Amino acid sequence: MSTRSIAVANQKGGVGKTTTVVSLAACLAERGKRTLLVDLDPQANATSALGLEKLEGGSVYQALLGSAQLADSIRPSGYDNLDIIPSEVDLAVAEVDVARAENYLQRLQFALTPIAAGTTATEATATGTVAPPYDFILVDCPPSLGILTMNALAAVDGVIIPMQAEYFALEGLAVITRVLQQVRDSGANASLELLGIVLTMYDARTNLAQQVAAEVRKHFPDKVYKTVIPRTVRLAEAPSFGKPITRYDPHSYAANCYRSLTEELLGVGPGAAAEPASPTLAAPSASPPSTPATV
Ligand SMILES: Nc1ncnc2c1ncn2[C@@H]1O[C@H](COP(=O)(O)OP(=O)(O)O)[C@@H](O)[C@H]1O
Ligand SMILES: [Mg+2]
Repeated sequence: MSTRSIAVANQKGGVGKTTTVVSLAACLAERGKRTLLVDLDPQANATSALGLEKLEGGSVYQALLGSAQLADSIRPSGYDNLDIIPSEVDLAVAEVDVARAENYLQRLQFALTPIAAGTTATEATATGTVAPPYDFILVDCPPSLGILTMNALAAVDGVIIPMQAEYFALEGLAVITRVLQQVRDSGANASLELLGIVLTMYDARTNLAQQVAAEVRKHFPDKVYKTVIPRTVRLAEAPSFGKPITRYDPHSYAANCYRSLTEELLGVGPGAAAEPASPTLAAPSASPPSTPATV
């Protein structure tokens, strides 16, 4: 399998991008998929959600400007199969610097290409063989459609859009889907795919959430993941312990929801059956207390 690269994007803040990207990365890693999480948000929430310190000079910044190899910024996350390129505050400056650079939309694309191809793997095993390329590269985007997000969209195969089922959600979706089309038309990434929309912080008890979910499914019939992420305090707590939900509360409903979303992702698209889990790598799930609901 070649590397699949995915950006988790939405111009709105607080919709669950970071929670979703960190949880998906942890679930993919748990499933035995070699995963690289790229924190492209200067706020570095994904970095700290995995319990890592921001490291000056350790982000994508230098590589975006072409003055360093991106592979040199890869750090182990402390979890099996999961590496990270952390973020740092300086990344905020990158918006300005990158905007002045040549091919400013494709800086991340160029920087990621050797990593996706596996040709810069610096990590060597005891036998001296080079580690295989990543199965997945996931990119956490800042809450804007600025240069950094545009670089992410130009660099990846597909996009997952997390959204809250609230008023104006459809307007927000219209904006980002238009931007995806602009990225395709610009030639920066002609094959960019909308992989799916995931409803986050979903409260099934409210009429509004149900109405918005129905509207979004009507407008994007094949693009809304069946798995819905509920609003739960466990997901809000996990980052302060520096752990993904699959480690903070492995048998929780929320962890199982993200596992279920991962299965959809590993399948062909929203609602598709996933490839069978490898028996040696599948998460132990003796009897999970709850199975994720889908709407
Ligand atoms: N399903 C959820 N239930 C409860 N709280 C959540 C959920 N998803 C995210 N949060 C919390 O909401 C806030 C915003 O989520 P976050 O993932 O950081 O959004 P974004 O990256 O889009 O800004 C964070 O404090 C996060 O812990
Ligand atoms: Mg975020």
